[in-house]
Amino acid sequence: MKNKQNSTPLLDVLLSRANRKVISFHTPGHKNGAGILQKLRNFTKRNVYYLDVTVFPEVDSLHDPISCIKLSQELAAKAYGSEYAFFLVNGSTVGNIVMLMSACDPGDSIILSRTCHKSVLSGIIIAGLWPIWAQPKVDQERDVIYDISSEEVKKYIENYPETKAVFITSPNYNGICPNLREIADICNKNNKILLVDEAHGPHLRFHPELPVSASETSADMYVNSIHKVLSALSQASILNFNSKKIDLKRVKNVVSMLQTTSPNYFILASIDAARMQVVKYGYKVFNKLIKYCDEARNEINKLPNMFAMTRKEIKSKFYDLDSTKITINVTKTGLTGYEIEDILAKEYNIQVDCADMFNLIAITGFGTSKEDIEKLVEATIDISKKYSGEKETYKLELPPLATEVVMLPRDAFFSSNTKRIELNNAIGYISAQTLTPYPPGLPILTPGERITKDTVEYLKSLAAYTVRISGQESNVLKTIKVIK
Ligand SMILES: Cc1ncc(COP(=O)(O)O)c(C=O)c1O
Repeated sequence: MKNKQNSTPLLDVLLSRANRKVISFHTPGHKNGAGILQKLRNFTKRNVYYLDVTVFPEVDSLHDPISCIKLSQELAAKAYGSEYAFFLVNGSTVGNIVMLMSACDPGDSIILSRTCHKSVLSGIIIAGLWPIWAQPKVDQERDVIYDISSEEVKKYIENYPETKAVFITSPNYNGICPNLREIADICNKNNKILLVDEAHGPHLRFHPELPVSASETSADMYVNSIHKVLSALSQASILNFNSKKIDLKRVKNVVSMLQTTSPNYFILASIDAARMQVVKYGYKVFNKLIKYCDEARNEINKLPNMFAMTRKEIKSKFYDLDSTKITINVTKTGLTGYEIEDILAKEYNIQVDCADMFNLIAITGFGTSKEDIEKLVEATIDISKKYSGEKETYKLELPPLATEVVMLPRDAFFSSNTKRIELNNAIGYISAQTLTPYPPGLPILTPGERITKDTVEYLKSLAAYTVRISGQESNVLKTIKVIK
């Protein structure tokens, strides 16, 4: 029997149309690329614009799929072991917001940690939910922060039996995953909905030596950024639905409410292509990548002043690691991760995915070659010969973050009854803003929570270091927006 996973229904329709060079009297205005600025077209050439079409019967509609998009989504659902798969063109950002808006009703509470992506806080505000903030776990040996453990989930459900759902990020930016199977079992036993932000894990399901994916548990919904590790274009994600507790019709409504009515068909077709590719070649590709990345970690771990966490180490902490990601701790070079990111870009023509004060994070993917990984390793060897020292004295730590949320984040966010006050005078007030200093890179203040002495002391202590602050009108941590 023909393997349907080898087919790409949406991509095929678009390619066949493109080859016919149909005259365009539809949006977009560039008309199959004819109107694109010459400078840009000289580089891209013309073909790609034939894929940028609008909604008409031949190419189906993302909002009401009945033909090729429907078929492609069905194949994706099968590939991801879900009941229904939605193609998303605004990344897992929109997927997270959809999950919160469709799994919970306004006023419901949800257990989560602030290691979550900023879109999750947006979803909490938009959906009108009460967050139950659980304390994330800091690993000071590796300078990374983990999402909550299964034991913590259990404890929080016992303490907050009224909670509707649990939200987990797995893997996190560093590729670290909590024990998702245990968490799913706990949620099941307690009749709680489990939502998983698996933006960084669209590949986990396709190799047995990668951590457990949400699709292998009883998670109710999980979102995968197909563009992050697989080969789809930026903004391409899949939202997977697998639930008896959530109304699929509501999810469909919310997805439709939040997505553009002019989705980019090139992005949609790239999801179709990436799904086919990962089903067919995923095992082989990730087998190699795991091996190359393990070899890279071995080399890096021979250096006196850099180290790369290994799966074995992370497993000893009862978490798991996606070993296709390489997190390199650089604190012993005497430079920050940001500085080394800059050196790598300027002197070695290598761009890592991101850096923080302590680490560089290199993400490999479907298009990574052995040579690329070797170049990264050579560059780290070179840099480590040039730099060493203990310049940075900052220790990664967090204040108690399981704070008292006394006002709905939505009400605090939209309130006009606010003022700016000195950090020193803020204790006891309700925060009307999100404040995310880097480090630690997660929100220390969120709208609706009571500002504690611990939080203020912590924020004051950060002033001694070079911190970047997100959520602040200026880069100075002197005042905070609070409810009057
Ligand atoms: C954990 C996590 N979730 C969600 C997102 C958002 O995904 P996207 O970029 O696909 O919108 C990101 C983005 O980096 C992320 O790191």
